[in-house]
Amino acid sequence: MIFLLNSLDKNYQTKIIKDLSKIISKSPFFTPTLPRFNNPFKIKISNAGKWGWVSNVNGYQYVREHPITNKKWPKIPKSLLFLWQKHCCKINLPDSCLINLYSFPNSSLGIHQDKNEKDLTNPVLSISLGSNAIFRYGENKNKLNEICLKSGAICMLKGSSRLYYHGVKKIQKVKKNIIDTCDFDCFPKDCRINITLRKFEF
Ligand code: SIN
Ligand code: FE2
Repeated sequence: MIFLLNSLDKNYQTKIIKDLSKIISKSPFFTPTLPRFNNPFKIKISNAGKWGWVSNVNGYQYVREHPITNKKWPKIPKSLLFLWQKHCCKINLPDSCLINLYSFPNSSLGIHQDKNEKDLTNPVLSISLGSNAIFRYGENKNKLNEICLKSGAICMLKGSSRLYYHGVKKIQKVKKNIIDTCDFDCFPKDCRINITLRKFEF
């Protein structure tokens, strides 16, 4: 797994947060539920791009439309496509952008692999914004490493780490949360946002 811990400066983070607020105004956050048992995740999500990742009683899926508004997902903003082109690939662009919202203090995300994509040789790029995440990752589920992901960090699942297990143990609030500074009603105080760019189709 590749970590670029201080990758994005404050201006770039602010630009992304503005772009996200536009996405959320058209495509509001909703709470996904776990396959089979249908209990709610401890995060909310939304998406941009041709394919949005959702989870419900039927399983994990990539879908074309928001499950509540039934509208197509908004476009992936240029600010995010640029980061993919810089760190992953110039030509092959992502067709999916998952936005995870972690509210402080009760959000977390279970240990999982990203493996619903059709071609697992394409990388996954994720961006952390706002509060800190205590992030766990590793090749072996029973032997995980822990790292603190701060606002502006980029992580990539690429090459031999593409199928690494990972999850978020907890959220730690920070003194000056950049999302709060931007002052958008759609993001709760002290939250963390994680953006995941992926290519679902071939
Ligand atoms: C995810 O694996 O979907 C998100 C990881 C994170 O929030 O850092
Ligand atoms: Fe993941």
